[in-house]
Amino acid sequence: MTQVKRPLRLGMVGGGEGAYIGNIHRIAARMDGAWQLVAGAFDVDPQRGQAFAAREGLDPARSYADYKAMVEGERNRSDKIDAVAICTPNFTHYPIARAFIEAGFDVICEKPLTAQLADAIELEKLVREKNRFMGVTYTYSGYPMVHEAKAMVAAGELGTIRTVQVEYPLEWMATAIEQQGNAQAAWRTDPTKNGKGGSIGDIGTHAYHLAGFVTGLTLDTLTADLATFVKGRALDDNAHVMMRYQGGARGLLWSSQVALGNSNGVRLRVFGEKAGLVWFQEQPNELLVSPLNGQTKIIKRGADGLSPGAKARTRTPPGHPEGYLEAFSNLYAGFAEAIHARREGRAPSAIGQNIPTAYDGLKGVAFVEAVVDSSAADDQPWLKPVAV
Ligand code: NAI
Repeated sequence: MTQVKRPLRLGMVGGGEGAYIGNIHRIAARMDGAWQLVAGAFDVDPQRGQAFAAREGLDPARSYADYKAMVEGERNRSDKIDAVAICTPNFTHYPIARAFIEAGFDVICEKPLTAQLADAIELEKLVREKNRFMGVTYTYSGYPMVHEAKAMVAAGELGTIRTVQVEYPLEWMATAIEQQGNAQAAWRTDPTKNGKGGSIGDIGTHAYHLAGFVTGLTLDTLTADLATFVKGRALDDNAHVMMRYQGGARGLLWSSQVALGNSNGVRLRVFGEKAGLVWFQEQPNELLVSPLNGQTKIIKRGADGLSPGAKARTRTPPGHPEGYLEAFSNLYAGFAEAIHARREGRAPSAIGQNIPTAYDGLKGVAFVEAVVDSSAADDQPWLKPVAV
């Protein structure tokens, strides 16, 4: 594990009492001592947010009623936050990120980057114009064995990639829990809050990023079939996407919120001319590699001879499991290193390389838009075989 510099000061918007991902961000930020949470506007309800900040032990002067007050309160402080983490529902990412970037802050933003494509384009441009850093928390690119897979592909160990199979199945939305008081499901099934891609926006974006991250392939075109299985739901809860990458490789992506038996079964399989590989998030410490000779081997996290990207993201010897929280922490350590390196005018060390940034966020939103448009297009050829 690479040691990082002085703790950066982190602010957080969203992620208050009962919220999901904010707590993961806080654990991740703390794990390597790279960040210190010092300010926040944690809840859409200011009172709840301030009560939460008090429980977290924050200075009351830095517990803000909303993100606008936070921008104003922080911008002129000598000990102002180094970056803000945006852990709110999708439709709020754009105005919040915009306000902080315009005020000169670096940003860590949840995926999907925005609910609308135009906003993602605008935001990515603004990050460049204002010369800010923006990290986007594509969690799965924090895993060491995902970096090992990426390094193997880049070194040509798989040969030319032929096909990529990636899936992200979930089960928690298999019934209409959004109508039974589940707050997380409620905004995720509301197009005005979530954006127009249901499962594809929520988790398909993770799968899309993971496939491109490991293979280095660039998407050319896609065709998609979205379905909504739960009655009364306004957005897709299952997506099948066929992809053609530049250079001729093919891809198949499946995201589902109704796949009973699958909790967070992210799985990536990449097949090249010389070898295939499999990474599965329920066994994230292992990478299966199958060369032409049929002798499949298991490469373990922490083993000798792994790539610098994998080594930099490893804390414990092989056999001691590392998982989701460590992967998320690797993103935070990487963001910290990227920020330090920019300030010091040097190239980042391995932990700060190959991290998801604003353009990755934009690509994710563009992908969702194309999937939804493809599925809605009525000129998609569906042919019926003569015997079925
Ligand atoms: P949630 O519904 O559990 O929490 C949202 C939080 O944001 C709540 O505390 C709410 O009060 C607060 N909030 C809403 N509007 C706000 C505003 N204007 N100002 C301040 N706070 C506000 O949502 P969840 O599941 O934690 O998702 C949040 C984001 O994280 C989403 O964009 C989601 O896609 C993403 N996410 C990413 C994951 C990953 O693996 N990277 C996993 C789960 C969610």
